[in-house]
Amino acid sequence: MNDLAGKHIVLGLTGGIACYKSAELCRALLKEGATVQVVMTEAAEQFITPITLQALSNRPVYSSQWDPREPNNMPHINLSREADAILIAPCSADFMAKLVHGRADELLSLMCLARPLDKVPLLVAPAMNREMWAHPATQRNMAQLTSDGAMIFGVGTGDQACGETGDGRMLEPQELLEEVIAFFQPKTLVGEHLLVTAGPTYEAIDPVRGITNLSSGKMGFAIARAAREAGAEVTLIAGPVHLTTPRGVTRVNVTSAQNMLEATVDCAQSAHIFIATAAVADWRPANPAEQKIKKDGSGEVPALTFVENPDILATVAQSPRGQSGALYCVGFAAESQDLLANAQAKRLRKGVPLLVGNIGPATFGQDDNALLLVDELGTQDLARDSKLALARKLIAKIATRTRAKGQKV
Ligand code: C5P
Repeated sequence: MNDLAGKHIVLGLTGGIACYKSAELCRALLKEGATVQVVMTEAAEQFITPITLQALSNRPVYSSQWDPREPNNMPHINLSREADAILIAPCSADFMAKLVHGRADELLSLMCLARPLDKVPLLVAPAMNREMWAHPATQRNMAQLTSDGAMIFGVGTGDQACGETGDGRMLEPQELLEEVIAFFQPKTLVGEHLLVTAGPTYEAIDPVRGITNLSSGKMGFAIARAAREAGAEVTLIAGPVHLTTPRGVTRVNVTSAQNMLEATVDCAQSAHIFIATAAVADWRPANPAEQKIKKDGSGEVPALTFVENPDILATVAQSPRGQSGALYCVGFAAESQDLLANAQAKRLRKGVPLLVGNIGPATFGQDDNALLLVDELGTQDLARDSKLALARKLIAKIATRTRAKGQKV
C-alpha cells in the first residue's frame, strides 16, 4: 500500500531508549510513500546516531537551531512549513512538559511552537518509565497537550528497559504507522458506533472436533480498521481467526454461531451501524457429544444430525429498536455464481438496506477482493483492490447513506 504517498512527515526524536524503535518507524513511514525529515534533540543523540536516521531517511538530520545549512538560518520555520505533520516519537516526559509550556530552547521544541497550528498537526508518541507515565504531572501535561490540539497516540504496556513492567512503552513501529495512516483518513463516522462480525464460526461435534469454513476474517477486520480510521467507535465480533486486532477497535472473540448471536444482540443495543461479514455456519451438530467420540474399530461411523443456526443479521435487522434509534444494517453475500440476483434476493430476505456481494472463492483467504453493492436504488461495482482499500470505499458509501437518511448517528 501507499497510504502516506505525498505526505511529508517531520519525525522528531527526544531522549529515550525507545529511539531504537524510531529507526524502524522511519523505514515504515517511507515504505508507505511518505518523505521523512528527522529532527533530533541532543538527548536523542545519546540513544541513536543521526547517521542511522540520515541513512534511513535519505536526508541530513537536523538537531541545532543554528544550523548553517539553511540559507536564512531558520530551520524551525523552514522545516515546519513544509510538513504535513510533526510526529514526536519517542516523546519523553520532559519534552511533553516543554511542549505544554511552549518552551523553545532547542530546535525541536522551537519548531513545534513555530508550526502553523491550523496546517501542521502535532502527533505525539510518549515513551517513559511507568511511574513517570502515571505521575499526575505527566497525566496533566497529556490532558493539556490534547486540549491544545495535539494528537496523543497512547502507550504500550509490558516489560520496560528499566526492568519494571507496566504502562509507558512507546507503541511499536507498526502500531504507530497504523495510527499515522488513520490520522490522515477522512473522518466520516465521528460519533458513531459501528458493529462488525467477522470470520467463520466453529460448531463443535465433540470437545476436540467441529465444523467450520474457510473464511479468513480479513474483509471484516479491514472494515473494522477502516471504520475506526473514519472516527467511529468500533466493536468487532470475531470468530476463530488469527488476525491482529486493528488499533483502537474493541474485539469480542466468539466461537459458535450461538455465541456470535448473543454477543451481537448485546452490542447492537448501542450501535448505529451493523455490518455482518461473518461466514456463519448454516448448521450445527444437533447433539454435540460431551466426551470425544471414539473410533472403536468396528468401522461404524457416527450418525451426525444437524440443526439450523439462527440468522444473526436477519435477527438483528428485524428486531424492534428502542431508545437507541435506527440501526443501519449491511449484509454480505458470498456466492459462487449469479452474484447480482443472489445479492438482490438476499437483501430482501434479510431485510437490510444494503447488501454487498462478492464471489466466495475469489475472496476467501485473499488479501484483495471485488464488491458489488446492492441497495434500493440499484447496484454499484467496487473494482478489485486490496480489502483495506475496498473497506475504506465501503465505509465512505455507508457514511453517505446514513447521513442522507438523517440517521443519528
Ligand atoms: O444467508 P447467507 O449466509 O448467505 O447470508 C450472508 C449474510 O448473512 C452475511 O452478511 C452473514 O454475515 C449473515 N449471516 C448471519 N447469520 C447467519 C448466516 C448469515 O448473520 N446464520
